[in-house]
Amino acid sequence: MRPGTLRRWLCRLAISTLSTLLFNPITARAADADNNWWKTAVIYEIYPRSFGDANGDGIGDINGITAHLDYLKDLGVDAIWITPFFPSPLVDFGYDISDYRAIDPQFGTMADFDRLMAEATKRNIRVIADMVLNHTSDQHPWFIESKSSRTNPKADWFLWRDGKANGQPPNNWISIFGHSAWQYVDTRNQFYYHAFYKEQPDLNWGNSDVRNAMYDVLRFWMQKGVAGFRLDAVTHLFEDPALRDEPTTSGTNKFGDPNHDTIYTDNLPQVHDVLRDLRKVTDEYPGRVLIGETYLNNANDLALMYGKNNDELQLPMDLQYGFVNSFDTAKTRQLLVDAETKINGNTPLFAFDNHDNPRSTERYDQKGHADAVARLIATMLLTPKDSALLYYGQEIGMTDHLPRRKEDVQDPIGKIGWPREKGRDAERTPMQWNADNQAGFSSTKKTWLPVGSDYKTVNVASENKDPNSLLNFYKKLIQLRKSNAQLREGEFVIVDPNNPSVLSFMRRTPDGKSVLVSCNLTANAQSLAIEELANKSGEVLISSSPLQIASGQFSLPPFGSVVAQLQ
Ligand code: NOJ
Repeated sequence: MRPGTLRRWLCRLAISTLSTLLFNPITARAADADNNWWKTAVIYEIYPRSFGDANGDGIGDINGITAHLDYLKDLGVDAIWITPFFPSPLVDFGYDISDYRAIDPQFGTMADFDRLMAEATKRNIRVIADMVLNHTSDQHPWFIESKSSRTNPKADWFLWRDGKANGQPPNNWISIFGHSAWQYVDTRNQFYYHAFYKEQPDLNWGNSDVRNAMYDVLRFWMQKGVAGFRLDAVTHLFEDPALRDEPTTSGTNKFGDPNHDTIYTDNLPQVHDVLRDLRKVTDEYPGRVLIGETYLNNANDLALMYGKNNDELQLPMDLQYGFVNSFDTAKTRQLLVDAETKINGNTPLFAFDNHDNPRSTERYDQKGHADAVARLIATMLLTPKDSALLYYGQEIGMTDHLPRRKEDVQDPIGKIGWPREKGRDAERTPMQWNADNQAGFSSTKKTWLPVGSDYKTVNVASENKDPNSLLNFYKKLIQLRKSNAQLREGEFVIVDPNNPSVLSFMRRTPDGKSVLVSCNLTANAQSLAIEELANKSGEVLISSSPLQIASGQFSLPPFGSVVAQLQ
């Protein structure tokens, strides 16, 4: 063969291999499924200060996360969402960012982050970064420049307004973290707006330079390999340009401020323009996901967050179903059905726990049935047609540990609001790995928050050994969610819709196969005879305690739950 012929032949072979790879329907489907990984994902939220302390300073760090990746792999999570790890004065423990393109030294270095990415990728675990778009730190160079005068190049990057006569703020808006949302700066003789702490000035999203700067930040982290972003406080990006006073309602909040509405400061229509832009930016990189921190009132509002043309967030959080905060069967069922049916076929992202709210172990009265309740919540989270958010420690049944004295409080909300508002320290205590000192979280004597007093029994090492532990229940449930076709892709069908005590639904695939899920939301045993299951028996796949299903009949113990393959 002449050299030219060989070259042509090799070239044709390369083109045909490439086109087979690109246009083969099987390969294309696999790529598609891979890019849509988030549709069925279990995403595990890590509060990095509290997960693993590799350098022994009492504060968790990135290497501490890397050290525990095998645990996360074994648990079965698809992705980790790490709350902010960027340089920050840490007034709001990272939600006040002073540099969007680096790692805070308390958490490690960029090399540590790159290693985390590489090790996570080896284990097929994706990494999701927490992006704070609404505000920066008051120590961010953008704000330092912006506040220096009314004429500097960044003068309009934040929300500056003149005060009223006699030094009063521009209007009655109050900060979510207490007191006026306006802070006076004498270099400009103006006030700036802050939806959260005064150290967290709100960016002006009406300014296209701000938008473009932030879009580039997203590109930077996607090039580093992150699989997407959890967008902090994203409904707060815009405020009423006319600065109308919020209507006040009766009473005062935990900070002693008058209660008022948020119609001029939250969820304004302009938010959707930015969400569409953000989606275009993340779509430049295949397989990335946008998750929204979206506290909303109903499923209709949630549906809007996906975009009228499904071109906004892929996973706005549903923070209703998991935050009923009482076992109200009718309400819980309604919220679940709404999320499953009123969001235009999109995927709901459910959560029962996060770093801003008391753990579900505290919010739901367990009436002496803590273990059954924890399993019930696991079942309610992991068996509907959803993506699921877990918060570190939820899988072992960690509980809240409130600071006893004001001097011990770390979270500034707790300092501002004490004693009515004790802050969020309680749900942020160190991960309980084992029964050693500091629960295996750190080698130091003093951790940034004290380890929960129950760590001798509630910890990963002891639960790993016990086949009946909550941890092993979570593992089995996550495994089942992946391996069982009905739980993986079956449609959601509500059954026994009027039962006042038990929430039941099925997951059904087109081949007629179905899985039943029943959750007893009461402290009494319940006997069921589900009409839809008449004459059916069920093979129990997982249940909070042993039981049998025959001819559609079975009993659930207090707060009991079952997942069964119907025959
Ligand atoms: C929501 C975050 O989850 C919370 O922890 C933070 O304090 C506020 N946004 C402000 O960024």
